[in-house]
Amino acid sequence: MKLKKTIILLPGDGIGPEVTRSAANVLQECAREFQHQFTFVEMPVGGAAIDKTGTPLPSETLNACRKADAVFLGAVGGPKWDSLPVGQRPENGLLDLRKGLGLYVNLRPVKVIEPLRGISPLKQDRLGDLDLEIVRELAGGMYFGERGTVKENGVERAFDTESYSTPEIERIAAFAFTRAEARSRRLCSVDKANVLSSSQLWRRTVSAMGTVYPNVKLEHMYVDNAAMQLTLKPTQFDVMLSTNMFGDILSDAAAALVGSIGLIPSASFGTSAPMFEPIHGSAPALAGKDIANPIGAILSATMMLRDTFGLSLEADWAEQSLVRVLNTGVRTADIAEPGKKTVACSVFNDMLHDEMQRTFEHAEKYGWGV
Ligand code: IPM
Ligand code: MN
Repeated sequence: MKLKKTIILLPGDGIGPEVTRSAANVLQECAREFQHQFTFVEMPVGGAAIDKTGTPLPSETLNACRKADAVFLGAVGGPKWDSLPVGQRPENGLLDLRKGLGLYVNLRPVKVIEPLRGISPLKQDRLGDLDLEIVRELAGGMYFGERGTVKENGVERAFDTESYSTPEIERIAAFAFTRAEARSRRLCSVDKANVLSSSQLWRRTVSAMGTVYPNVKLEHMYVDNAAMQLTLKPTQFDVMLSTNMFGDILSDAAAALVGSIGLIPSASFGTSAPMFEPIHGSAPALAGKDIANPIGAILSATMMLRDTFGLSLEADWAEQSLVRVLNTGVRTADIAEPGKKTVACSVFNDMLHDEMQRTFEHAEKYGWGV
């Protein structure tokens, strides 16, 4: 089936534009070979938008995203805007966008990429065939709770509030249970119910929902223990469900297990257009040098193809080509090991493009599914 889609590209800051280009190249290649029509529209967000328009999320950007079929975001933030107060920073562009698109689900798959097995800091027997998914609540919690700074008797105090309602917990839990049902039917909900009342409501609500999904084996874990267990025995996890804040922290910890945060994609779903973004930041030190790792961005693009457009053949094609490129031993600098060849981000993209071409021609001749 030939699809017609509008995709908004939000390159953002730092290495954002470089990795966005990598992702867009892959999407464009899929459209070209499979005769889909993808229209790309680039809009400003984050620091780039502050510089251009004075605000990190111009209303034109949000409106365009709302009407789009999918949104791709590179990264936001950087030292240039570090002195701005919370509320006016590039990061607010991203948070307002998540809020504005009603994105309450953030799915972060963490999986060993076979040729990159060696870059994991874990011993191989611990790493095993690590393949887990973090389901992070994205529209609530401390990120969006009441916050402020006050002065009491000459002493400054600042606060941020963690708050969740039952419906907010139910909708993200429903997504996580469904995801677990489609995988190994194990769900680990992570909270801090021994201390926080918001976590107690979280645990109670998730437990109650467990009866609706009797096939899923539900487990609860405190977040401090979960962070430790990720390092000690990560293969015990399949789908992990957590709050906005804990999910943010756990996903960086989990990303480190497979060797680099640059490898991890994410997809966010909600009430309007879905958004796809690598989980890494804008990496200002790497920006503009053509040395960024585009893999997290490319895998975010294949999540868009598979999960939102239903184009699994196209997604498999791109992912298998990516693995074959890695099998030849080329690496961006961040994941280079002795004996491997370091290449620039743009060179990696070109190699992927060539490999996709080779695979496509082969498949045209001998059929897909090989
Ligand atoms: C992420 C990032 C963002 C977050 C920042 C840039 C606001 O760390 O997507 O994980 O905290 O959600
Ligand atoms: Mn993060």
